[in-house]
Amino acid sequence: MYKGRKIITGLILFVGLAAIPFFYNSGKTSVKPEPNIDTPAIQQLAEKQCVEPREFMKANHMQLLNDWRDSAVRDGSRIYVNSQGKQFTISLQNTCMHCHSNKAEFCDKCHTYANVKPYCWNCHIAPKENKT
Ligand code: HEC
Ligand code: HEC
Ligand code: HEC
Repeated sequence: MYKGRKIITGLILFVGLAAIPFFYNSGKTSVKPEPNIDTPAIQQLAEKQCVEPREFMKANHMQLLNDWRDSAVRDGSRIYVNSQGKQFTISLQNTCMHCHSNKAEFCDKCHTYANVKPYCWNCHIAPKENKT
C-alpha cells in the first residue's frame, strides 16, 4: 500500500511536469507548419504518395537526397527503385520539384520553421512559382 502511494505520487508529479511545456507553449504563435501538397502534378496522382511513405520522407528526405546525388553523380545511376518496387528518375529538379512545384509553400515552410537553409538552390534550379 505504502509503495503504491509513492508510485501514484510519482506519477502525478511526472504528468504535471511533463505537461508544463504545453502550457508554456500555448500562448505562442509558432504553429507547426503544414506543408502544402496541393500542386498540379500531385492533383493528377491516382495515389497521393511520395517517393517513399510519408513518415519516411518526413524523417529521411535529406538522407534520401544525399543518396540520390551520390547515385547520380558517383555511380551514374539515375533510376531509383523505392521500397514498393516503383521506379523514379533521380533528379531533384525534375522529380521532387515536379511534384512539389510549390517550394515556398512546401519545402521552405518547414525549413523556415526548423531553421534550416539547404544550400542546394545555389546551383539547382528551383521551380518557378506560378501561384495557382
Ligand atoms: C510523384 C509525386 C512526388 C514526388 C516525385 C515527390 N513527392 Fe514528396 N510527397 C508527395 C506527396 C503526394 C506527399 C504527401 C504524402 C502523404 O501525405 O502521404 C509527399 C510528401 C513529402 C514529404 C513529407 C511532408 C510532410 O507533410 O511531412 C516530404 C519531406 C517530401 N515529400 C519530400 C520530397 C522529396 C525530397 C522528393 C524527391 C526526392 C519528393 N518529395 C518527391 C509527392 C511527391
Ligand atoms: C515536413 C517538413 C519538411 C518538408 C516538407 C521538407 N523538409 Fe527538408 N528538412 C526538414 C527538416 C526538419 C530538416 C533538418 C533536418 C536535420 O537537420 O536533421 C530538413 C533538411 C533538409 C535538407 C538538408 C539540409 C541541411 O543543411 O542539412 C535538404 C537538402 C532538404 N531538407 C530538402 C528538402 C526539399 C528539396 C524539400 C521539398 C521538396 C523539403 N526538404 C521539404 C523538414 C522538411
Ligand atoms: C555547387 C553546386 C551544387 C550545390 C550547392 C548542390 N548541387 Fe546537387 N548537383 C550539382 C551538380 C553539378 C550535379 C550533377 C548534375 C548532373 O550530372 O545532372 C548535381 C546533382 C545532384 C543530384 C542528382 C541529379 C539531379 O539532377 O538531381 C541530386 C539529387 C542533388 N544534386 C542534390 C542536391 C542537394 C539535395 C543539394 C543541397 C543539399 C545540392 N544538390 C547542392 C551541383 C550542386
